[in-house]
Amino acid sequence: MTAVTEHLDKSAETSKKVDVALDHLILGRPIGFPIYDARGVLLLAEGAVISSDFKRLLRNRGIDSVQIDQRDLSRITLNADLQSNQTFSFDNDLTQRLDQIIDSGMMSVQNEGAAVKDGLVSRGTQAYDVGQRSRLSRQNSDSTAALSGVMKAALHGGSANGATMSKMAGSYLTEMQADVDSVLTSTFQQLDENEMSTQALQTSLLAMAIGVEMEFDAKNVRMLGLIGMVHDWGMMRVPKEIRESTNGLTPSEFYEIKKHPIYSLEMLEKATSMPGLVSLVSYQIHERPNGTGYPRGREGSAIHPFARIVAVADAYVALTTARPWKTPYMPYAAVECLLRDAQQRRVDSAAVRALLCVLSLFPIGSLVTLSDGSVARVMRRNGNAYNSPIVQRLQDSNGDQVDPIAFENIIDLQKSELSVEQALPTPGRQELTLSAALEERKQRGKAN
Ligand SMILES: [Fe+2]
Repeated sequence: MTAVTEHLDKSAETSKKVDVALDHLILGRPIGFPIYDARGVLLLAEGAVISSDFKRLLRNRGIDSVQIDQRDLSRITLNADLQSNQTFSFDNDLTQRLDQIIDSGMMSVQNEGAAVKDGLVSRGTQAYDVGQRSRLSRQNSDSTAALSGVMKAALHGGSANGATMSKMAGSYLTEMQADVDSVLTSTFQQLDENEMSTQALQTSLLAMAIGVEMEFDAKNVRMLGLIGMVHDWGMMRVPKEIRESTNGLTPSEFYEIKKHPIYSLEMLEKATSMPGLVSLVSYQIHERPNGTGYPRGREGSAIHPFARIVAVADAYVALTTARPWKTPYMPYAAVECLLRDAQQRRVDSAAVRALLCVLSLFPIGSLVTLSDGSVARVMRRNGNAYNSPIVQRLQDSNGDQVDPIAFENIIDLQKSELSVEQALPTPGRQELTLSAALEERKQRGKAN
């Protein structure tokens, strides 16, 4: 073979084109080589990123497959073996080690100290303490700023310090011991929901409150707080185009989402002073008691109790947070949907029961109308009486504002003739009512 023919052969080999279904292109991936249509017309130049707009444009033109350079195949499309196989093959040393621990069945949690719940003070119809509110306000801003910094550093290969975050959880636990309702409402009302750090903090504090309700000791509750803060870091490594896709996900894109617990593990491995349990639980957050979760499809007791708790907190925060692709549920609708999910074993029923006690059916911080036509904000849970929380009246039945901290306007519904008539959406915010949320789920079920 002459030098010239050898060169031609080589270039023919390296520029080989492969037909790929549009659905198999992974959103958010930059292409190393141009993409053409079946007749060789350039569709996307090298270096461009596969976007949902690009796919939509082609579909509108009746194009459902494209030609890509085979050197891009493994990088920008779903591997055919993986696509045909529903079980995961993210086998690496770390996941194998975790799977061994899970298989050995050592998944129970013991208390070493007294249950935090035993020392909780019931605040009855007391208003929130003003000093604690301003302290919490500062703490929330500082914590989300700190978490944001740690998450960015972890994304770029830096190491996070588990001890610092555990201390953060400990300081929130101290505030919870004084007034858990005040801690939760301050976090859910004050922060910018668009920030991943806000969702991490809210998940963390809600998981801690559920843990307190489930009678764990301080060490275990702090652990839940730490896991809530870090378990979803891997999501930052999923291309934004997929994370925030407004068009529903193709199987290959959903596969990318399913990788995020493994990405979280890789990031947590680099952290210092991070207990091994944090990795194990983060790995299992998206498993479901009925075995339909990921990455391994584990069932029931093969899912760590902390993973089942943080999953419920994570789901509540996800349902009530506005995202580019979805309208949030009203807090009441989110609790109702989780109760239905618990019946289908999509979430742990004991953890959902604890969530119901922590937030009440009409979650603390949300607005309701009372049976006399007045409007009130749910202020405190009321023990196990989740139907009749302690509320703070804001408007009388004529719609006139009242003094919400006046003695007569803080009402224990368990001791009152009044009851909750209707859950209201958050003022100034678009939220799905329960019936709209159930309809949305039905449609999503059909699409899947
Ligand atoms: Fe997640």
